[in-house]
Amino acid sequence: MTPTQPLPPAVYIVGAGPGDPELLTLKALRLLASADVILYADSLVPAQILESIGSQAETIPTANKTLEQILPLMIDRVRQGQSVVRLHSGDPCLYGAVHEQMQALVTAGIPFEVVPGISAFQTAAAKLGVELTVPGLVQTIILTRISGRTHVPEPEELASLAAHKASLCLYLAARHVERAQEALLLHYDRDTPVAICYRLDWPDEQLWVVPLHQMAEVTRREDLIRTTLYVISPALAVRPQAGESGGDDRRSQLYNPTHSHLFRPRAQV
Ligand SMILES: C[S@@+](CC[C@H](N)C(=O)[O-])C[C@H]1O[C@@H](n2cnc3c(N)ncnc32)[C@H](O)[C@@H]1O
Repeated sequence: MTPTQPLPPAVYIVGAGPGDPELLTLKALRLLASADVILYADSLVPAQILESIGSQAETIPTANKTLEQILPLMIDRVRQGQSVVRLHSGDPCLYGAVHEQMQALVTAGIPFEVVPGISAFQTAAAKLGVELTVPGLVQTIILTRISGRTHVPEPEELASLAAHKASLCLYLAARHVERAQEALLLHYDRDTPVAICYRLDWPDEQLWVVPLHQMAEVTRREDLIRTTLYVISPALAVRPQAGESGGDDRRSQLYNPTHSHLFRPRAQV
């Protein structure tokens, strides 16, 4: 018996990144440019992304639709032989509600492929000019959210994750910021820097770096209720900067002349 070849994808679930069209992958760009239909989460994918590709595709915003309305639209277009892109903000694997879409496509016998995108936390770190894993300081990144209408399982409650004092990227939390701050303060020092990142890469982007004890106050003062990411990290305190307060000399072993490894067996001092 010859093994069956997998069918080519009929639907591409594509990550759009946070908003800058230049952060689309080449693959995403190619698929968007050649798609017949693009279903996109208009609450989080800015219009500038679709404008930038100059596509002639039918575009279907989905923010006001239920999954039960979206799926027949996708399946119908696939059955008409059209190429379908389902565009999600950031990377689809994070809070993208793609699990149930993928399950429904499998059930309908429709092959799909997921194309990754840049998540909001990666753009935040880039804009802040910070490595979230600074040797000797912090080596773990936690991506999480706070319980809202979607319940976070009890072992993952923010208060227990905060105990690691890692670089913690907190999604979907602006509406619950007081509760988030309270949970974080159980473990992080009150002066731990927090980057409040509002609509990164959108035309009205704003960024503040404040001590943890001011996280809620600044969020409320600026009236941030959505599309806000918080990065709580000791690494923000050692951001590379000029002047006397800069010049933190922590470094990894990777390019250290005192350290040898497979690709640099002898120290080249
Ligand atoms: C439904 S989740 C989608 C996350 C997305 N899949 C990602 O990888 O970035 C929406 C949340 O992601 C964060 N987010 C997404 N895009 C953002 C942006 N451009 N600026 C700041 N935060 C963003 C916010 O916390 C927002 O509430």
